[in-house]
Amino acid sequence: MRSTLTIQGEDGRAASPTPECSSPAETPEFRADLVAGLTRQPKRVPSKYFYDRRGSLLFDQICETPEYYVTRCELEIMETYAGEMAAALGESVLLVEYGSGSSIKTRLLLDELNAPAGYVPVDVSREHLHASCVRLRREHPNIEVAPVCADFTQPFALPRPARPVDHAAVYFPGSTIGNFTRAEADQLVRQIAHLCGRQGGLLLGVDLKKDPQIIELAYNDEAGVTAEFNRNLLHRANRELGADFDVSSFAHLAEYNRGQGRIESYLVSQREQRVSIGSNEFHFAAGEALGTEYSHKYDRADIEQLAAAGGMALRKIWTDSRGYFAVVHMVHDD
Ligand code: SAH
Ligand code: AVI
Repeated sequence: MRSTLTIQGEDGRAASPTPECSSPAETPEFRADLVAGLTRQPKRVPSKYFYDRRGSLLFDQICETPEYYVTRCELEIMETYAGEMAAALGESVLLVEYGSGSSIKTRLLLDELNAPAGYVPVDVSREHLHASCVRLRREHPNIEVAPVCADFTQPFALPRPARPVDHAAVYFPGSTIGNFTRAEADQLVRQIAHLCGRQGGLLLGVDLKKDPQIIELAYNDEAGVTAEFNRNLLHRANRELGADFDVSSFAHLAEYNRGQGRIESYLVSQREQRVSIGSNEFHFAAGEALGTEYSHKYDRADIEQLAAAGGMALRKIWTDSRGYFAVVHMVHDD
């Protein structure tokens, strides 16, 4: 094995191994982050908390809506170029996927890889991750699937597969990187560069800048699936933390911020109200917004800037026929 497979913290300490889906219960962290997020002005909560089992299933439903072009465009790219991508990732690769969800696009890549050492889906949505792995193992019995339930922004350890690993590569599709600020994304790519080295590199899906009307429609589907996905954060807080959000009194709002190049999603309180989470009470003014998600869009210059900030060299950009989405290959530039 040529590359080190243990991700270390910024302080250089080796992270402790993470056995299958066995990270600590998420509720204490969720409570702390939600309380902190509702205490600050303006109110804001990390978007990773959308994803319990229901949130993951709602995301899959969003992908089926006619307005959400993102998934269909990326699928078109994968269907056309998965062979080229697999060749670029190399033989005996350990494929590590950040934010794997239902691993739908990954299947196209796994079909093309040359003697992969294994597949490591990394996701915070524990139950959904488990269900996806059951399906994947059935469909790809020859590939070792070793899930890690973890927040990929934090140090985690990679499982060692039975087969020899030549190098690791990171697959980070779905434009999930867009859910991080540009500074956070730079930092994330720097961390990934350490993990994947020069051989395999990073295969990254990014949604491209385009007519803002098309983007806004994608986050305001007519059937209201995205609105339900957004409100799932409050349902989850009620279920897991015993909060008392009156969910129907929060309206979904998603609008494109041209200056920042991103969709901003909010839950807007339709009346003045108080919400309790345990012993903590929070006040919402009528019309007050809780920020729930950013979805940043990229152009070529943004992609080049991201690669440079992460210490990566850009190797290839594949796009769909409309030029809506891009899958980018970059490798550690040392
Ligand atoms: N890659 C899939 C799913 C995208 S949805 C696709 O392209 O269709 C985003 C996924 O990332 C969800 O499954 C969510 O649970 C996961 N996720 C979001 N933030 C995360 C984080 N910080 N750490 C680990 N997983 C995260
Ligand atoms: C996972 N992520 C990239 C999706 C996005 O487009 O930001 C989540 C999503 N939010 C609303 N619709 C889809």
